[in-house]
Amino acid sequence: MRQRLICCALAEMNMSIKFELNGKTVDLIVDANTSLLEALRNDLMLNGPKFGCGLAQCGACAVMLDGVSIRSCVTPVSVVANKHVTTIEGLGNEQDPHPLQSAFIAEQAMQCGYCVSGIMTTAAAFLSENPSPTHNQIREALSGHLCRCGAQPRMIRAVQRAAREMKENQS
Ligand code: FES
Ligand code: FES
Repeated sequence: MRQRLICCALAEMNMSIKFELNGKTVDLIVDANTSLLEALRNDLMLNGPKFGCGLAQCGACAVMLDGVSIRSCVTPVSVVANKHVTTIEGLGNEQDPHPLQSAFIAEQAMQCGYCVSGIMTTAAAFLSENPSPTHNQIREALSGHLCRCGAQPRMIRAVQRAAREMKENQS
């Protein structure tokens, strides 16, 4: 009897959740306490979003939720039900890179790379809101992201370059 009660308690902690991840529908059964970052990395095997502080302080885990940059380490996976999540893997790939990905390479805007996935997804969300940003606006947009390698000046240049290229592609 006791064993049955424990089993029921454990079963109640699991939940089924469906959402769109990088353009594909995902159906997951996860512990209700799982963070989005844990679900992405451990259940969906995406290693782009990184675990840094776990406290919404560093930005390494940032992903887009319905086009807005969020910190996946403090976002319960239940929040994304029926919504669209985009990670660095969904921005582009080697064959068809996002202009930000090309620009980060062109500007050599990374060193260890740990922070870059979060920074690039925040930059993508930012550029969709502000396609012609000033240097200071980019700085402000990325100010919540820590980079221990000190690559921020090159990243700002990369975001400027991507903005220019995105504009040229549209005209
Ligand atoms: S790991 Fe999420 S903000 Fe640092
Ligand atoms: S490139 Fe190393 S932490 Fe940013």
